[in-house]
Amino acid sequence: MIIINIGELTGIVPEGTLRKQGAEMSETGTIRNAWLRIAPDGTILDFGPMDDLPGAGLEMGSSDVSGCSGMGMGGPTLALTNRRPAHPQPGIPTDKQVINAEGGMVLPAFCDSHTHIVYAGSRQGEFIDKINGLSYEQIAARGGGILNSSDLLHNTNEEELFRQSMERVQEMIAKGSATIEIKSGYGLNPEDELKMLRVIRRIKDTVPATIKSTFLGAHAVGRGYTKEQYVQEVIDMLPRAAELADFVDVFCDEGFFTPQDTSRILQAAARHGLRPKIHANELAESGGVQIGVKYNALSVDHLERAGDPEIEALKGSETMPTMLPGSSFFLGLPYGRATDFIAAGLGIALASDYNPGSSPMGDMRFVMALACIRMKLTPVQALNAVTLNSAYAMGVSHLTGSITPGKRADLIITLPGWTLERLPYTYQTPFIKCVLLKGVEFQTSPPQA
Ligand code: NIG
Ligand code: FE
Repeated sequence: MIIINIGELTGIVPEGTLRKQGAEMSETGTIRNAWLRIAPDGTILDFGPMDDLPGAGLEMGSSDVSGCSGMGMGGPTLALTNRRPAHPQPGIPTDKQVINAEGGMVLPAFCDSHTHIVYAGSRQGEFIDKINGLSYEQIAARGGGILNSSDLLHNTNEEELFRQSMERVQEMIAKGSATIEIKSGYGLNPEDELKMLRVIRRIKDTVPATIKSTFLGAHAVGRGYTKEQYVQEVIDMLPRAAELADFVDVFCDEGFFTPQDTSRILQAAARHGLRPKIHANELAESGGVQIGVKYNALSVDHLERAGDPEIEALKGSETMPTMLPGSSFFLGLPYGRATDFIAAGLGIALASDYNPGSSPMGDMRFVMALACIRMKLTPVQALNAVTLNSAYAMGVSHLTGSITPGKRADLIITLPGWTLERLPYTYQTPFIKCVLLKGVEFQTSPPQA
C-alpha cells in the first residue's frame, strides 16, 4: 500500500533511536510533499518525496486513487471494525492500494503510556464536590476517590466492565492513539484486581491497537485492610498478576504508599519479572522518583512536584520522566518543570492519565496542546513526547512511535491543510482524516454500503 500526496510527513526518526533526550527533543525529520509505502505485514517499508515516487508507471491518476474513508472521528454507533483502507481500483494490481492524502499531514499515531480506562460508572458526584471546593485529597479522605471507583467496580460484572472500557478504547483510537497502557488499581482485593487484569487482557485480544497492561494493586489501601496488611496482600497477588500484566505500578505519594512500601512491592515484583512504572510526586515530593530510578523503572509518572534532587536522580538512568498535564488541568495542580528536565538533558514523555478522578479524557492532541500552552514545550518537543518517548515508556519504541522503516504503520492521516504547529494551536478543530493501525484503517462506524 502507498500513501501519496502527503503535504508534510513528520515524526521521521532514524532506525535504532529508542528515545529522545535533551536537545534531541527539539528534532524530528520532516519531508514536504511525500509518499510512504506500507509492507503487507503492516510495517513501514519506505518513504520519500513525491518527485521521487516509486512505480510512477502505475498510473496514479486521480481516478486510480482513493482517500481513506475519513470516518475517524466517529459516528453515533461505535462498532469495532478494521478494514483495508481503499478499494482496489481498475488499473492498479489488487495488492497495491493507494491512499491519496490530498496534502494532509502524516504523523506517527499517538502512544499513551499511562491510563486507567478500565473503570466502572463515573465519579461525576465528586466533580461537583470539587467545584464546591474540596481537594483531591479531601475527597479521597472522605472515602471517595479511588475507593469510590473500587466500590463501583466491585458491583459491576466482568462483561459490563469490558463493555464500558471498550467505549473508551475506541474513543481513544478514533482520536489518534494506537498504543495504550492500561492499569488495574480499582480492584484493591485479589478477586477484583484479577478481574481488571482479565478485562485488560481481553481488550488486548480484541482491538487492533497495541495494549500494555500494568498491575497497580497498590493504588490505594483496599477496604477492610490496614496499610500493612494490604501491602502484604499486594505482594501475595504478584504471582497471579504477573501472568496477566506487563508492568507493576505503585502510587508512591503522600497519603498513599511510602517509598518503603514501594520498595517492598518492587523487590517482590522484580522476582516475578515485572518492571516498574510508578506514580510519583503528584501530591508531594514523595521520594517516588528516587525509588523508581533505584529499581530501574521504565517510567516515573506525574512529577508535578519534582525538585532538583529528582532531576539529578533521573540523569543517566533508563527511566523516562512522564508528565500528565490532563491531571494538572483537571485538578488545578502545577504543571511541573518539563523545560527544566529537558534543559538538564532528560527526555519527557506525555500521557493522558485517562481516569474517572483526575483526568477524565484520553485525547492526546489536547495533551499536546496543554504541553505547549501550559508547560511551554514546542510542538516538536510535544510530538516526540506523545510518540517515541511515550512508546519508550511502554517498552515498545523499537516497534512503533515514529516514522521509521520496519516499525508498525501506526499513523494519523490529517485533513488537508494541517501542519504540526497547528495541532496544539487550534486545538479543538477536528484534524483527523483517518487512523491506521499496523497499516489498516480503523473504522469507528460500520463501513458504508
Ligand atoms: O494518576 N494518582 C493516582 N491515580 C490516578 C487517579 C486515579 C483516580 O482518582 O481514580 C492518577 O491521577
Ligand atoms: Fe495515574
